[in-house]
Amino acid sequence: MSAAKKLKSLVLVTLGGYSTYAGISFWRNDEKFYRSFIMPVIHFLPAEGAHNLAVMCSKYRIFPTSLYKDPESLSVRLFNKTFSNPIGIAAGFDKNGEAVLGLKDLGFGFVEIGSVTPVPQPGNEKPRVFRLLEDKAVINRYGFNNDGHDAVYERIKNIKSSGFDGILGVNLGKNKTSTDAINDYVQGIKKFGPVADYLVINVSSPNTPGLRSLQSKESLRELFCALVETRNSLEEKPPLLLKLAPDLSFQERKDVAEVIQKPECKVDGLIISNTTIERPSSLINVSDKNETGGLSGEPLKQVSTEMIRDMARLTHRSVPIIGVGGISTGQDAYEKIKAGASVVQIYTSLVYEGPPIVDKIKKELVSLLKKDGFKSINEAVGTNVFK
Ligand SMILES: Cc1cc2nc3c(=O)[nH]c(=O)nc-3n(C[C@H](O)[C@H](O)[C@H](O)COP(=O)(O)O)c2cc1C
Repeated sequence: MSAAKKLKSLVLVTLGGYSTYAGISFWRNDEKFYRSFIMPVIHFLPAEGAHNLAVMCSKYRIFPTSLYKDPESLSVRLFNKTFSNPIGIAAGFDKNGEAVLGLKDLGFGFVEIGSVTPVPQPGNEKPRVFRLLEDKAVINRYGFNNDGHDAVYERIKNIKSSGFDGILGVNLGKNKTSTDAINDYVQGIKKFGPVADYLVINVSSPNTPGLRSLQSKESLRELFCALVETRNSLEEKPPLLLKLAPDLSFQERKDVAEVIQKPECKVDGLIISNTTIERPSSLINVSDKNETGGLSGEPLKQVSTEMIRDMARLTHRSVPIIGVGGISTGQDAYEKIKAGASVVQIYTSLVYEGPPIVDKIKKELVSLLKKDGFKSINEAVGTNVFK
């Protein structure tokens, strides 16, 4: 065999071997393979392009289905439903309800879509998403870009009969140009109430002018009294959850706790938290940290855990909490659960680690529960509220 032929065979064998390794690693959702090969390539794309690609891959179910079978210890009973595991995908990833089945394939116990507004809107000008790689964080100012109620409703109205056996949350927002926020949320409840397992009233996005002032005592009382009445008028009565900003002062947290426990405007659950407008001094990134928008990921982790603890205390643990902010390990999820969260969500860690992170968090959580002698998530919820 000539030297050229030998070299050609060597190249072919190497390429063949590498392709087989890549194919098997992809199919097995191999963490190291994603971390070392796939994610570094994805991070060459602009952040919004990578986000759109990930949504497309989930929509067309290109990612392999997780091979991990949720053990009984991870199952959670909440809102009269059974969550097969406590890890959900947070709002803002699948804004338009295109990828629900694909996200379930990744192993999520629940999927929250949105935020959805009554009429479609384009959101803010691009660029509007920034990765702070060194900080494992993201800053976004998308501004509720979405297809609007009607289009999203059409996509998900039959989701339960098309093989989706998970829990579906719909996160509701208000249009940027709307002058009647309450009406925007009322419309959302009427539209999605019959098809969602829970609804989220998002008054905490920093990217819609004036939105976050709806968290103030009087506005919140007026808003929730109207929304609870609308929900109660429906045949199916989905739980109404309130998503809060981590930037509320202690007095504002106390005010929220007081309003949401009043029988006439009682909230069924809290989501803690949305992104922060703070820029902690610990941030390493210099080029993008001063971009306007909400910061998510690792730098939000402790702040959101402490807020979960505060709200669990202030409500005497009478309002269930979905914990979210900077979770990337089983330990992070466990800290939020012990601080009072019944289930948790992730977003930014998926941007950095890819789909294998879902199973990784679940497996680590199972070991932590076992180590501490808990037979189920429910037993661990809130064990550190008064620490
Ligand atoms: C790019 C991006 C878009 C988001 N869009 C929304 C949204 O439309 N509605 C919402 O309630 N939260 C939105 N969020 C906030 C997340 O749902 C979550 O509360 C926050 O990112 C903290 O979780 P994480 O640290 O795991 O990302 C968005 C977050 C990111 C990173």
